[in-house]
Amino acid sequence: MTTIATSTPAWVQALDKYVASKPIEELAADLGLEPKEIIMLVANENPYGMSQKVKDKIAHAALNLNRYPDADSCYLQKALSKKYGLPQDWFVVTSGSSELLGLTAQTVLSEGKNAIIPQYSFSLYPMVAKLCGAETREVPATSDYNADLQRILEQIDENTRLIFLTNPNNPTGTYLSEKEIIDFLEKVPSNVVVLFDEAYVEFLEKELQPDSLEIVKRFPNVIIARTFSKAYGLAGCRVGYGIAQPELLELINRVRHPFNVNDLSQLAAIAAL
Ligand SMILES: Cc1ncc(COP(=O)(O)O)c(C=O)c1O
Repeated sequence: MTTIATSTPAWVQALDKYVASKPIEELAADLGLEPKEIIMLVANENPYGMSQKVKDKIAHAALNLNRYPDADSCYLQKALSKKYGLPQDWFVVTSGSSELLGLTAQTVLSEGKNAIIPQYSFSLYPMVAKLCGAETREVPATSDYNADLQRILEQIDENTRLIFLTNPNNPTGTYLSEKEIIDFLEKVPSNVVVLFDEAYVEFLEKELQPDSLEIVKRFPNVIIARTFSKAYGLAGCRVGYGIAQPELLELINRVRHPFNVNDLSQLAAIAAL
């Protein structure tokens, strides 16, 4: 190992790179196939693509990219505020919801603190937590592959700062009901942030969807992560958002880089909404 490699923090040395799938053309070449013979399921992308309205917006805007984008994505914040009936400062726009997972971890975790992650969760959660030097605690799933909320509560100690929950979950497809969530949150200490990753919430039948907005209004330690990558078919744009009370978002915004979401992605997301 070089001196650079051995001088980086121990938790960086211990990390593995996130392995994403190759572009479909590369994979097809490796396998001696035509790209159209492969059905890509690995990243849960939307095979129907994006709407015509989004295509029109991006095509027009792509001719004018000499200016920096709006640093806070305020027009998208306004559009989200209108859609959900919450003030604009309850939203943070990020480069995919992945960025929000990392920003939340960086805001609340450090060496000596821990994050709790249910078994069978999205592989990015332990990565972003470990990158902050924090310990990760994986909690075994229930016998039907759901997050075991009781066992998660038992794992919380004075150094716990973050809990990841995915609803509905990737890859098991299980979900948590509103009652289960509220019963759980009532027992979580107020200095522990609970991130509900709702990347797939649009795929849950309406009557099964928890009232996440009411949950955020009631619990200042909750943040909801959503994305335009799945139901909206904009995975290539890298745009997602968080919903939380302004006090928590104000901290997360200190960690977020300005101009984190490019112009085309902001416009695409507004058109998609
Ligand atoms: C559960 C879950 N959360 C978050 C993401 C990240 O999505 P994005 O960064 O594209 O918003 C994914 C992507 O597959 C996912 O499965």
